[in-house]
Amino acid sequence: VRVDVLLTPGEVTPAHVTGRVVVVLDILRASTSIVTALRGGARAVIPFVATEDAVRTAKQYARGEVLLAGERNMVAIPGFDLGNSPREFTPERVKGHTVLLTTTNGTRALLSVEDAHEVLVAGFANCAATVEYLRTHLISGRDVTVLCAGTDGAFSLEDATCAGRIVRLLVSSGLFLHRNDGARVTELLAHRYGPDTGRLFADASHARRLAEAGFGADLDVCGAIDTVPLVAIYRDRAITRLDVPSASAA
Ligand code: MLT
Repeated sequence: VRVDVLLTPGEVTPAHVTGRVVVVLDILRASTSIVTALRGGARAVIPFVATEDAVRTAKQYARGEVLLAGERNMVAIPGFDLGNSPREFTPERVKGHTVLLTTTNGTRALLSVEDAHEVLVAGFANCAATVEYLRTHLISGRDVTVLCAGTDGAFSLEDATCAGRIVRLLVSSGLFLHRNDGARVTELLAHRYGPDTGRLFADASHARRLAEAGFGADLDVCGAIDTVPLVAIYRDRAITRLDVPSASAA
């Protein structure tokens, strides 16, 4: 079985998607916001590329049932209920709501692979739960692609490092995996930073931009490892939490 890591969305080919489980990573901050919303009791998170599509879809729901969330250039979209800061996705705000989310890179990357056998959303927050779930697929012979959302089409250090953490955990769990060069290089990054996401974010340009824009406190949430032990799965146009025994403790 194979685990391939794609360092940017531009590397996606049909062969990386068809019949595979694809894990989408956008550590800063879409993935972290999504899993935080699900932990907080959101019914689902529905991803959109375009703001207008999210707004149009919101009108199909009863008032009070949905929350519009998202960012452009890191900042909350005017008129939306929430931005893209995981700290906003508290149980008080999201419980029982469907969150319609549009972000610059994360939701776009997710929708680019929606034809996969399964699509998962992961970050440092739900890394171990996701790895455990991926193991079951790999053991049954299903190949995995890890897609780094990156930033504006370019490589992001934090996404790649989390991808490497996932690959290393899979390998250290005893699986024999064929890995592409992307996977190999991300393993080196994960080895370099280990669990020190503070050091990682000090080196990562998007993390520095977030801090300069006043979102420095988000970095603590996005860098916290295995704080949200759930598997986030995208199917039938919605991201929900998958109830697997290992992920039921969230
Ligand atoms: C994105 O999808 O581009 C990000 O999550 C941007 C951000 O809000 O930091």
